[in-house]
Amino acid sequence: MGKKILVIYYSQSGQLAEIVDTFTSPLETAGHEVEKVRIETDPAYGFPWTPQRFYAVMPDCVLGVPVALKPFGLRHASYDLIILGYQAWFLWPSIPVNSLLHHPALLAVLRGAPVITITGARNMWVNAFTEVRKMLAQAGANLVGNIALVDRHLNHISYVTIFHWLLGGKKSRYLGFFPYPGVSAADIEHTRVFGEIVVEHLDNFSALQQALMEAGAVDLKYSLLLLETKAVPTYIIWARFIVKRKKRKDWLAGFKYYLLFSLFVAAPVILILDSIFIRPFSKKRILVKKQHYLALN
Ligand SMILES: Cc1cc2nc3c(=O)[nH]c(=O)nc-3n(C[C@H](O)[C@H](O)[C@H](O)COP(=O)(O)O)c2cc1C
Repeated sequence: MGKKILVIYYSQSGQLAEIVDTFTSPLETAGHEVEKVRIETDPAYGFPWTPQRFYAVMPDCVLGVPVALKPFGLRHASYDLIILGYQAWFLWPSIPVNSLLHHPALLAVLRGAPVITITGARNMWVNAFTEVRKMLAQAGANLVGNIALVDRHLNHISYVTIFHWLLGGKKSRYLGFFPYPGVSAADIEHTRVFGEIVVEHLDNFSALQQALMEAGAVDLKYSLLLLETKAVPTYIIWARFIVKRKKRKDWLAGFKYYLLFSLFVAAPVILILDSIFIRPFSKKRILVKKQHYLALN
């Protein structure tokens, strides 16, 4: 029998929209009712960003301050499956998605519903996922699957290229020779396979995540996980500090330089020290840590 499937997401550049469309196309082909809702904030965040507007959203991302969403309607009072597309902004769920997860219309259908989360990130999505997972649990939803797509290029390279994209507005090669920014076209196309897997598990989700993982739905790199988990508490300190300051702009500029320092100075040092003194002696602990972030509940 055809299932009622809600696909709800935010996408600024259209990348997550493309991911979600490709991922859910096998569900449509299989004859299920797929209702897509692309939410928008009111007012919208301008795209492309200016550097000033980009850094200015950091405190509200980290402190989870919701904003108003344009009204949206849902066709049904309950769904057989909800697919939630989210993206990380400054290591936390983007402000639009955080606002959506506080919205009464979504909360009403989440209770008791099976949910699959899907993200298209630069490469640090783990804390955002942890927060989304927590909010879904609080809403009484049942997380049954998680897919995380990332830019697979080196951390420093993807940092440069994402700024070219988000500040320039085009997903093109910076200077003509840097790689394309964001999630690759091949990885986006591959989400079709994940969609086909979901079709096979619609009557029983218990083995879904295992099947998705085997098809490459989540690639969690220890080095990125290490850097992200070290960065999270420092972002909280910055955000709490900046919101109390009168000269916010100046402190946000300070945060920008802190980010550059973290990426180009602190990160290589942390990774070298970790690879000498910690990693060789903590294989089991690392595995447990990874499993904690990969778990659905
Ligand atoms: C303000 C802002 C902050 C971001 N911070 C992160 C981040 O912390 N980690 C990450 O992997 N990607 C980050 N990204 C990239 C987004 O997760 C996402 O990949 C990109 O914005 C494209 O998504 P879209 O479909 O909404 O356009 C950030 C993007 C924006 C606009």
